[in-house]
Amino acid sequence: MSTYAQELRATAQAMVAPGKGVLAMDESNGTCNKRLGKVGIDQTEEMRRTYRELILTTPNLENYISGAILYDETIRQSTKDGTPFLKVMTDAGIIPGIKVDTGAKDMAGFPGEKVTEGLDGLRDRIAEYYQMGARFAKWRAVITIGDGIPSRGCIEANAHGLARYAKLCQEGGLVPIVEPEVLIDGDHTLERCYQVTEETLRTVFNQLYTQRVAFDQMILKPSMVISGKDCPNQASVNEVADATVQCLMNSVPASVAGVAFLSGGQSNQQASAHLNAMNVKYADQAPWTLTFSYARAIQQPALEAWKGKESNLSLAQKLLLHRAKCNGAAHEGQYTPEVEKELEPVTA
Ligand code: G3H
Repeated sequence: MSTYAQELRATAQAMVAPGKGVLAMDESNGTCNKRLGKVGIDQTEEMRRTYRELILTTPNLENYISGAILYDETIRQSTKDGTPFLKVMTDAGIIPGIKVDTGAKDMAGFPGEKVTEGLDGLRDRIAEYYQMGARFAKWRAVITIGDGIPSRGCIEANAHGLARYAKLCQEGGLVPIVEPEVLIDGDHTLERCYQVTEETLRTVFNQLYTQRVAFDQMILKPSMVISGKDCPNQASVNEVADATVQCLMNSVPASVAGVAFLSGGQSNQQASAHLNAMNVKYADQAPWTLTFSYARAIQQPALEAWKGKESNLSLAQKLLLHRAKCNGAAHEGQYTPEVEKELEPVTA
């Protein structure tokens, strides 16, 4: 048994505590720059830092956010007045996490498919992050649906990478977030997404088992079973909730400590509504807590309102907190039109 087993179990449970979820703010520098650039903000290290300070100093964020995933640049940064981000987080009771993969790269021999890299030197990086104060980690694998894809080769390579990463994390004291994302891009149906997600999850758990990963010391971060974004027939909120929970029931062991979904390009309100419907209908039957680990579906309104200007800081923080609150409510099956509308006077 890992030296850290008890600590890992406690951290994993805290990450999916009632009414809370994980905030993903671990965009690589390239992705963060792209998102800043889209709303007209300078793509510099200082603006990335200022943006992350805005997020982490949002008053009361800890009411809905159990932990936040940082990027290697961010975990080493501080607020303008010199307080390390890690201290800001731990003072607020937000558990620090860290993205440790080095990105999804084109997979040799598999046109149109990606494999996630980052195992080289991972044991040492985990040791450094643990010593700095991180208590969980994230690795994202990407599965693309298209003509003749995903292939078995791609699913297996990604599942193996996720499992090797997860075991190294548990050895080093970090709870692994295992993220096999089936992309929403394309015109595929809900049914096709179901098939691919089920095959992916079964393969991932097979590999996790083979690599001796302790399921009660990890968090699964799946995509929802949803129609491709260009599919002419878009499934309803209830259809997405039903298909997603059924798919997980068929492929995810009951002992997994928790499930925290990614938003994957869904609109803010869709992401909240889907999570809410799952909890309303299945919280009593599902063996795991169902919560969120969203990036875009929490951050987007705040980023757009901020525009890089100090004068917009307070509004941006209110918008960020609002989305965190909506998703916290969805975790409890209590997301309603009234909760969604609470902020309308502020934004009007
Ligand atoms: O890896 C992806 C993020 O952790 C989740 O991002 O909610 O924008 O899909 P998303």
